[in-house]
Amino acid sequence: TPRQDSPLYALLEQAAAYYRQQLRHHGQRQRAVGYLKQRGLTGQIAKLYDVGFAPPGWDNLMSHLAHDNTEQKALLDAGLVVENPETGKRYDRFRDRIMFPIRDARGRVIGFGGRVLGDEKPKYLNSPETPVFHKGRELYGLFEARRSNRQLEDILVVEGYMDVIALAQHGITNAVATLGTATSEDHLRRLFRVVHNVVFCFDGDNAGRQAAWRALQACLPAMEDGRHVRFLFLPEGQDPDTLVRSEGQDAFRARLVQKSVALTEYLFRHLEKEANIESLEGKAHLATLALPLIEQVPGSLLRRLLRQALENRTGMRLDELPASPPPPAEAE
Ligand code: CTP
Ligand code: MN
Ligand code: MN
Ligand code: MN
Ligand code: MN
Repeated sequence: TPRQDSPLYALLEQAAAYYRQQLRHHGQRQRAVGYLKQRGLTGQIAKLYDVGFAPPGWDNLMSHLAHDNTEQKALLDAGLVVENPETGKRYDRFRDRIMFPIRDARGRVIGFGGRVLGDEKPKYLNSPETPVFHKGRELYGLFEARRSNRQLEDILVVEGYMDVIALAQHGITNAVATLGTATSEDHLRRLFRVVHNVVFCFDGDNAGRQAAWRALQACLPAMEDGRHVRFLFLPEGQDPDTLVRSEGQDAFRARLVQKSVALTEYLFRHLEKEANIESLEGKAHLATLALPLIEQVPGSLLRRLLRQALENRTGMRLDELPASPPPPAEAE
């Protein structure tokens, strides 16, 4: 765990202020502002999420924030400056990018994501692991969601920065993003500390659907009774950003209510694609796949209901299942 008083926090905050200021005053700010406008964002929402601009050039931030070797080293530790291992040359990590500060639950800047303004690669660059930033643990937008909602009832989990911000632009201020990493137990601990209802809404593509199934698996050990997890699958090629921009807040909210499926429903729907329960063999296959998942659920009511649902689908009383015979010994 990071030291509470890590000097990196102040440095990261200064960097965020610098990028924010460049979006207002840099000679090339119109390119950045134009990009944000073209993506449907107003200045008000950009301000709410503290969006900034890292100008083109190799040492803008470095020359602004570091005046000696010690200060440059601090920027290296913060992940804001990169050192070429061969030449020892140091330069700004984020150049000519739209900057999204990532805050922890207490609102401290811990890292950044930076997006190119065009189609260059990589599309997003993120802070590396630092003493205060652990990419697989953080939820982008959680601080802002709590700040915008006195009483958060549910949280929408999406993939990207722009999904969170576009949803907020359309009045849906309870979205957080996993930043392209798999949903982890850490993420879930953080989410369920804040709300009892979580809805996953990943992109309508293969990566998004895979991320959803992985999220379901990560959720199972967290499913205490009283917690609710749903999944909203989007039309092919859409993500929350494109969808809320094209259909608006009301339709998106209606979609959340009408089209999202409960974790339990998704679980059986997914497994029944693999196991065709028309045949007895398929029913046995379904039981083989479902039982180890169901057994992970800590909520005893939900676990019993899931077992019952599996019984109904297979037509088999599960409490009568004999213990499996030991696997045949391996031939020597
Ligand atoms: N991501 C990343 N590095 C990349 C691509 C993606 O870190 N090269 C992360 C970012 O956090 C991104 C998320 O994964 O927001 C989702 O990726 P993707 O769907 O490809 O990007 P979008 O968020 O939809 O980006 P945009 O709408 O700006 O094109
Ligand atoms: Mn993802
Ligand atoms: Mn995607
Ligand atoms: Mn997108
Ligand atoms: Mn996307």
